[in-house]
Amino acid sequence: MSPAASQAQKKRISELARLIQHHDHCYYVLDRPEVSDAEYDRLFRELQKLEDEHPELRLPDSPTLRVGGKPLDEFLKLKHGAPMLSLANALSEEELLAFDERVHRFLDLPQSEDLEYFAELKFDGLSMNLTYRDGVLVSAATRGDGEVGEEVTQNIRTIPSVPLRLNTDQPPRMIEIRGEILLPISDFERLNRDQASRGQKLFANPRNAAAGSVRQLDPAVAASRPLTGFFYGMGAFESGTSPGRPLVKTMAEYEDLLETWGFRVGSKRRVCRGAQAVLQFYREIEHLRDELPFEIDGVVVKLNRLDHLDRAGMVSRSPRGMVAFKYPPRQESTTIEDIIVQVGRTGALTPVAVVSPVRLGGATVRRATLHNQDEIDRKDIRIGDRVLIQRAGDVIPEVVQVITEVRTGGERQFKLPTHCPVCGSAVTRKEGEAVTRCLSRNCVAQLKERIRHLVMKDALNVEGMGEKIVEQLVDEGLVRHLSDVFGLTVDQVLGLEGFADKSSRNLIESIEAARHPELYRLVFGLGIRHVGEATSKQLARRFGSIEALMESTEEELLEVEDIGPEVARSIREHFSHPEIRAEVSRLLAELKPKAPPKAATSGVLAGKTLVLTGTLPSLSRSEATALIEAAGGKVSGSVSKKTDFVVAGEEAGSKLDKARELGVSVLDEAGLRALLGR
Ligand code: IVH
Repeated sequence: MSPAASQAQKKRISELARLIQHHDHCYYVLDRPEVSDAEYDRLFRELQKLEDEHPELRLPDSPTLRVGGKPLDEFLKLKHGAPMLSLANALSEEELLAFDERVHRFLDLPQSEDLEYFAELKFDGLSMNLTYRDGVLVSAATRGDGEVGEEVTQNIRTIPSVPLRLNTDQPPRMIEIRGEILLPISDFERLNRDQASRGQKLFANPRNAAAGSVRQLDPAVAASRPLTGFFYGMGAFESGTSPGRPLVKTMAEYEDLLETWGFRVGSKRRVCRGAQAVLQFYREIEHLRDELPFEIDGVVVKLNRLDHLDRAGMVSRSPRGMVAFKYPPRQESTTIEDIIVQVGRTGALTPVAVVSPVRLGGATVRRATLHNQDEIDRKDIRIGDRVLIQRAGDVIPEVVQVITEVRTGGERQFKLPTHCPVCGSAVTRKEGEAVTRCLSRNCVAQLKERIRHLVMKDALNVEGMGEKIVEQLVDEGLVRHLSDVFGLTVDQVLGLEGFADKSSRNLIESIEAARHPELYRLVFGLGIRHVGEATSKQLARRFGSIEALMESTEEELLEVEDIGPEVARSIREHFSHPEIRAEVSRLLAELKPKAPPKAATSGVLAGKTLVLTGTLPSLSRSEATALIEAAGGKVSGSVSKKTDFVVAGEEAGSKLDKARELGVSVLDEAGLRALLGR
């Protein structure tokens, strides 16, 4: 029995509920918190305590409901007030133009007249139907078959950006709000790391993770997943005051209304006049796509005027006045026909899936990396499996997940061989490493990769010396060492398949042209593990010659900016092999690398490392760099303990934070000038 509640307690409960709702909105929707976490917790606990003492006073939209209730045995079915429709797709610019033309026809308007479209992001999540009665969230349901979905109210209430009450004094009697629940990419990655560390199944992509989280029978699990939602649509609607009066006249106004009611709506949305303006929006968003914190799979284009939308009518289960204008997918399903093993420059054996060709991200994919044996085991990938592959940006496509539901039993397991598939020597796998390596120095596969690396664009840049030619040169026995490349003659090349007089001479000319590389390009071209272009520049600058680099000690290496113990060890290891030293000597007999410009060893900043961040009032970045270098200082891209000064201008970001954290001195432009004596 709870003691009778006083009027004051009742009042405090509703005051607390409003305050917490307000702070949730500020924090999760607007990204602009007004109170500290501690203060927020105090309010929350006070409300919880009052509600525990007086359960009868708990409000139907109390923020404490977000914590989630008891686990369910199953989800109840819930019929939507109005069906949840689907969208037709446009997969190319032509299809978008065809859509526009169709809409004109159905609206009986001349093609020359630009229609007004509302364009926004197509969120790649789980569609959701929220029902608010008298402004209070009463239920949430998945799309289901469009007519009947599953009731997931408890779970949706745990999402802090979903309003439990509409922020308006005059809510409609009932309204269905539609949107998309999703998991931001960084949270998805964190979740998968957690899942892996607990030995649990990984989610293939953020959408699956969001769907899995929403369809959790235990609301406590759903509450632990950082879900969010974007809202954009309307379903059934019953007006309160004047029956049937439409709330708004356009989609743009509708989303603005949703925003004032407290929903998160996409910030990238635009009213576009005519199809060309839509195309423009589509292209702009495509460039932004990789920078968005969540996944989108297209833009949705809607007739902006609601009367137009009505007039355009329906085609099967989709409004004719809307279209999903999609981007090429990044994940696709295909079948693993075989698994082959590639041997890389450093001898690493990489299992690669040969897949039935599929179009993905604008290219045809035939191979997808499986990384290593551990990954194959963890994902339980077998030959013959139907799998999901993905590519993000320019990276090599990878196998994400097996579609185990369609296994036939005829699939075959795969184990990396015990011997190098190319040279036949035994392979090894170091304790604690995922990579299996062929350690033979005579492995032809490694030689080919080393040559390819040496001649690539960012290294010696031997034009025209592609993969096929390297293959032939090695297979014909013309090149047995890196240095042999520089002993090739026109006649030898002429003997290769596909070469004529002119092409042979061209290749030899490109080889000749590569004899005087900048030193760092040669350092990079040597293909030392963990030594990329940037590190090569630092090394070239610090040591001035390959000979000096070869003799460098671990200590000296560790003094170089950006080089830590792992890279230093890798460099020492590389030059500890007599065959490599011999190879480098032979190369040096052929090449004349250009030493880097000597860094000034005198000057007020001699030996000092500076980092520039933000915009300086009068100096451009290159002007500031030139001044610093002229005074003997060095400009580095990242802040570390070795940094002597950080020069910060306007809108300095994380580098400035890092400097403060490490206690590195921070200067402004005036400070820099003072240091330089100007
Ligand atoms: S409007 C008639 N706008 O995409 C349905 N849908 O492929 C009206 N979606 O079922 C949908 N972002 O779940 C609309 N900005 C957006 C959307 C969006 C994602 C989903 C929605 C829909 C599916 C259709």
